[in-house]
Amino acid sequence: MTFLLYLLLGLVASLIGGLYLFGVFRQRRPGEPPLDKGPIPWLGHAIEFHRHPVKFLERMKQKHGEIFTVRLAGMYITVLLDPLSLAAFVHESEEKLSLSKFSVKVAERIFGVKISGHEKHSTLINKHLRGDGLEVLTQTMMSNLQDVMLQNICLSLDRKTWIEDNLSVFSIKMIFKASYLSLFGKVSQKSCGSVEKAKEKDLADSQVLFSEYSKFYHLFPKLAVGLLTPWEKMEVEKLKKSLWNALSVQKLKTRDNISRWVLDVEQDHQEMGMKESMIDRHMLILLWVSQSNAGPSAFWLLFFLMKHPEAMSAVKKEVDDILKESGQKVVHGGPLINVTYDMLTKMPILDSALEETLRLTVTLFLFRSVIQDMAFKMADGCEYQIRNGDSMAAFPYIAIHTDPEIYSDPHSFKYNRFLNPDGSKKTTFFKAGKKVKHHSMPWGAGTTMCPGRFFALNELKLFVFLMLVYFDLELMDPEEEIPDVDTSRLGFGVTHPSRDVRFRYRHRV
Ligand code: HEM
Repeated sequence: MTFLLYLLLGLVASLIGGLYLFGVFRQRRPGEPPLDKGPIPWLGHAIEFHRHPVKFLERMKQKHGEIFTVRLAGMYITVLLDPLSLAAFVHESEEKLSLSKFSVKVAERIFGVKISGHEKHSTLINKHLRGDGLEVLTQTMMSNLQDVMLQNICLSLDRKTWIEDNLSVFSIKMIFKASYLSLFGKVSQKSCGSVEKAKEKDLADSQVLFSEYSKFYHLFPKLAVGLLTPWEKMEVEKLKKSLWNALSVQKLKTRDNISRWVLDVEQDHQEMGMKESMIDRHMLILLWVSQSNAGPSAFWLLFFLMKHPEAMSAVKKEVDDILKESGQKVVHGGPLINVTYDMLTKMPILDSALEETLRLTVTLFLFRSVIQDMAFKMADGCEYQIRNGDSMAAFPYIAIHTDPEIYSDPHSFKYNRFLNPDGSKKTTFFKAGKKVKHHSMPWGAGTTMCPGRFFALNELKLFVFLMLVYFDLELMDPEEEIPDVDTSRLGFGVTHPSRDVRFRYRHRV
């Protein structure tokens, strides 16, 4: 009898535990944001969210307003879509809303590393990606970009001959190779015998690395959400090993001109007593953060310019004027040009086109773990109770970037949207008569803001500058539609087109 009683109690306890896990008992408490648990126990809205996060969040915004809590695969996430309250969210203390807890989990799942000493690395990273360090890196990038770009098109080629290519692969590849060589250095000339041979080897090696990276990049969205098939899991492990090896501390020892950023992160890890194999894994994170958004941005920027002739001619004129002012001109078969850091600071039209491109193409979740019960105060004064153990996420793409009150006709590309009538940079945008503090957030905000943003802007500007001074370029189909985005990558950063776009280019002079 006692045994049966215990068995019965055990069954009831497991049933209640199971129902608890499935979220049956969770109810909205007074003062909390609207709660939407979704149609399926435990999974909640996960399927609809996975299918198209942007459409899902737009639907939720229509239903609940600018703050609400949804259930996704057992997690309760409070989503914030009020542009005027985003500043309070990103500046909330780590004791309440922690990024580190979340990023540690992500880094572990994706890259197989445990992250610690986050702040220290950020300081180091910042030091070399701005100021004097940035100037040196930009100069190196400029020279590597020309090597990589001009390798593709023989300088003696008849200037009337067009070369056709896929714009997305082309742009991502150019940025990848030049940026990899600028950050992770080049083979030593001594080991190759001559400058020319060393250059050939660098271009060949970076092509091999690009091909491995592209396969990893392709599987990344499924890896991030844990949806890899067993075969894909094996493939990812193989690719990671190959990339760890290519970027390993041992391989770096054989290279010259490695950036201070990479060297200092490596040295810092060594001083922390980290095992060499773990440092190799961290190097893949550096490659990832420096590449995953920059290449796709280069694609969209060039695509929007080719799609909008008035934008293209305004940027082309600016580029030509700056080159002329510097006393240089492109001579067919002549010396390469020198685009200085200073020249890049005098390009408000290109700056605006680039900011507009990022506004339209960065779909990023700013994600935080809630680590104590807290009250979140919205800009309108309303206060919401948020529970310890839940998560909070902001989505600037809907909250700011495509809000029609902040940006008229928000889904259209307007190259001069970030210019004042006098040609200076426009930085003030309003919602309901109030200035929006963060009017554009492609880099995140607050303490976790992308430390590579200045370098990223420079490499993208260099890419467009060089493409426009060396080449005429056009879309193969002048009526080309804007490609749909790859929905599996929504929320991870810069969107990726679901198909490539054909274009052609030829020497300008
Ligand atoms: C268009 C190109 C890029 C975009 C849109 C971009 C955007 C971002 C965003 C949104 C974050 C996360 C911020 C957050 O969670 O609040 C981030 C993090 C980061 N980015 Fe970038 N990024 C770009 C290029 C680069 C480049 C070229 C580098 C390095 C050379 C870089 C280095 C980093 C690093 C190291 C982090 C992690 C910071 C940390 O956890 O302390 N990024 N980036």
